[in-house]
Amino acid sequence: MDVRPFWLAGSPATGDDELTVTNPHDGRVVGVGSVPTPDQVEQAVAAAHAVRKEAAALPIHARAEALAHVSRRLAERSEEIARLISAENGKPIFWARGEVARAVSTFRFAAEETRRFSGEAQRLDTEPAAAGRLAYVSRQPYGPVLAVTPFNFPLNLVAHKVAPAIAVGAPVIVKPAPATPLSALVLGEILAETGLPEGMFSVLPVPNDRAGALVEDPRLPVVSFTGSGPVGYAIKDRVPRKHVTLELGGNAAAIVLADADLDWAATRVALFGNYQAGQSCIAVQRVIVEEPVAEAFTAKLVAAVDSLVVGDPADDKTQVGPMVSVEAAERVEQWVAEAVAAGGRVLTGGGRDGATVAPTVLAEVPGEAKVVREEVFGPVLVVQPVGSADEAFAAANDSKYGLQAGVFTRSIEAAFRAGKELEVGGVIIGDVPSYRADQMPYGGVKESGIGREGLRSAMEDYTYEKVMVLTGLTL
Ligand code: SIN
Repeated sequence: MDVRPFWLAGSPATGDDELTVTNPHDGRVVGVGSVPTPDQVEQAVAAAHAVRKEAAALPIHARAEALAHVSRRLAERSEEIARLISAENGKPIFWARGEVARAVSTFRFAAEETRRFSGEAQRLDTEPAAAGRLAYVSRQPYGPVLAVTPFNFPLNLVAHKVAPAIAVGAPVIVKPAPATPLSALVLGEILAETGLPEGMFSVLPVPNDRAGALVEDPRLPVVSFTGSGPVGYAIKDRVPRKHVTLELGGNAAAIVLADADLDWAATRVALFGNYQAGQSCIAVQRVIVEEPVAEAFTAKLVAAVDSLVVGDPADDKTQVGPMVSVEAAERVEQWVAEAVAAGGRVLTGGGRDGATVAPTVLAEVPGEAKVVREEVFGPVLVVQPVGSADEAFAAANDSKYGLQAGVFTRSIEAAFRAGKELEVGGVIIGDVPSYRADQMPYGGVKESGIGREGLRSAMEDYTYEKVMVLTGLTL
């Protein structure tokens, strides 16, 4: 099998070591990547640093054209890339196609947003002493971005870091997840077609134990990380003076109030508790349901979960595939066993076959069990009946995390209360917490992270406000 090059300052390169990527479904080799040497990493960082001023001065039309090109090429190559995502990640092809479509939009939004990102004029003649003065407030990039990306969306979560960096004129170095680097390498291939200046982007599949040097490098003033809490906070603690953005985990709640459309809620919760085998930071985990409808809803939920098609991720019909590795699936199996030992009841699922965990619904699980308190990141739903909407909101907030929550209700009053009271970065009314539109602000409170992604938000995050005051003007 040909070794796929990585991208060093915009050009293909190979290192001394190889990196074999296997399909979690059947262990088949999907591709072989190449690992950059420390010297090559140094070259990439030096190039990003050297190009930073040219990058910040890139005309908007050049940024927009590059971003639009990437969007178009992803669309043209969508089936091939979806197959690659599915093979390296184990994600069913249905969801992988959705991920490519989202990445097409992510780059398109960035192309549009960079044209709008113009700063603003502020009149200062609000006071007699400032007659004839005007402030021009623009946003300037901090400088090169280190993007550390996860395995669960190996294309679109890379896009969410690369596209806004290009949009604001910041060089970017991507360190993809070791299990799923191939989609990021294809993105590098497409970026190399754009004519962006040398050093504007690198994609370096370095192993995790070598990432610390990149994190600490002062020439990379921004670190944008998506992944687990312990790793994210270790990065933050390691470089407290850097601008660090953390998109971390959650144990997302779907709240089903008594007035909800139970069929819709059950279908959505079943699907989005199990999509990508639960490996999304906003996959439904806790299902908080008002008591008057708890029995009826739970029966519908179990039926909906049982109807999910589990199997080969390459099959068009498959809805739930394997987790990223056997080890990940074993951990979920252990957490379910712990919940059951503590008194929880398995309503369906509970088993494991290799890397595939059967879609699982648990009830009567004590609140201290890991499947309630921690992020399962697997296909497990925990049903928690509560006495009222107040109790539902309190139960949802009883978490160290706060990424997104979903609330099924037909009441506008309950919707607004949820919007106000839930301690999360996003509240989705009438749907699951897993809903994300790529242009909207996305990020958490509490231990779910720091900062926001979504094109406009990430562009603000990678930049600082700079004021230029003009004097002696006729306004
Ligand atoms: C995540 O898992 O944080 C990303 C979810 C998404 O983009 O849909």
